Amino acid sequence: MDKELKIGLFGFGVVGQGLYDIFTQTSFPAEIIKICVKTRNKPRPIAMDYFTFEKEDLLAHEDINLIVEMIDNAEEAYEIVKTALKRGKNVVTANKKMVAEHLPELISLQKGYGVALLYEASVCGSIPIIRNLAEYYDNEMLHSVSGIFNGSSNYILTKVIQEKMSYDAALKEAQDLGFAETDPTLDVGGFDPKYKLCIVTSHAYGVLIEPEEVFNYGIEKLSLHDAEYANEKDLKIKLLATVEKVSQNEISLFVMPYLIPHSHSLYHVEYEYNGVIVEGAFSEKQVFTGKGAGGHPTGSAVLSDISARRYNYKYEYKKTKWKSKFTVTNDKLMEVYIRYHDEKDLKLFKLQDVDIKYVGRNYNYVIATINLMDLISIRKELDKRNVFVANTGRLTPVLSQTDSEESQIVLSEAE
Ligand code: HSE
Repeated sequence: MDKELKIGLFGFGVVGQGLYDIFTQTSFPAEIIKICVKTRNKPRPIAMDYFTFEKEDLLAHEDINLIVEMIDNAEEAYEIVKTALKRGKNVVTANKKMVAEHLPELISLQKGYGVALLYEASVCGSIPIIRNLAEYYDNEMLHSVSGIFNGSSNYILTKVIQEKMSYDAALKEAQDLGFAETDPTLDVGGFDPKYKLCIVTSHAYGVLIEPEEVFNYGIEKLSLHDAEYANEKDLKIKLLATVEKVSQNEISLFVMPYLIPHSHSLYHVEYEYNGVIVEGAFSEKQVFTGKGAGGHPTGSAVLSDISARRYNYKYEYKKTKWKSKFTVTNDKLMEVYIRYHDEKDLKLFKLQDVDIKYVGRNYNYVIATINLMDLISIRKELDKRNVFVANTGRLTPVLSQTDSEESQIVLSEAE
């Protein structure tokens, strides 16, 4: 307790500056010793004495006992974090891509060198989901964790669908506000929420999965027709990341747009806000909402991790040590809306059961059942065709409280 923290900060972008602001506005008992940045000759809001351009000035600094890594580039972040851990320095990071892509190695480095890596800020900004999954939900069996994990795409969807702004103008705003990644494809293509989902899955189910093994389909193909369809039916389109238990020892995970009804808990989660729904066998549904992007909200999660290091908190990855392990399956039925224009494009989909087929003057759509595996097999084609796919959310696995009974798949009215 009350350990004196001496921080070396990497990066002074949106989150780094947000954290610095928070430090200046609170009397938090830690000191930022040095800040390492890449760009020289850039005006900085604080004295240049704080800054260095050399990584080693932080990594080799004897007084610095905590590295706070807030840079954008996942490869550079990985090198910094790996070096810091190997040199016995604890690390706090917000880099979801880096954590998701290297988690097994990062866990083993933490063990091997007796150090800690915390990354609450990497998932859903200000929402404290990682520590909750790791500690609060450490015993209860979770049926699912799902939600809006990307602020930029939610911002765009809100602006385009509710406020009728153009997609490009909405994306530009998300970039100007500092929500979007340097490469916004990571946001709108569903990659960023997929990295977050992989991290969530490790703390919810003890399963470490490579991001490239997970299906992600974003909102790049969204058109005004889809917005019109959603508005007509009083639905909203949200990009959701989901991990759910589909049988006693299997989970499925995927990122894709959903058409959600008024009764859905995330219907009113707009702009850069994120929302996470945790469904436990006994606690049942719990909903967390908060800002998922931006300097101060993300900085607040970083501060919480820094604070946790004052009492030596580290993730124990308890669920990875469970005796009965979960396996990941893509054999999962879902009901989808597919907007298309050319019958040839519809033929691409291996549909199992077509509920509605609409043929209109401007666009066509079907509501049908498809297996996730079959969607994965045509993933690359989806980018080339003029189609948009969204999950209706009506086909969900229903698991018993004890999981002793067989799971069933049912059509539900709401979530
Ligand atoms: N680009 C991310 C988002 C930033 O929009 O959610 C926060 O991780």
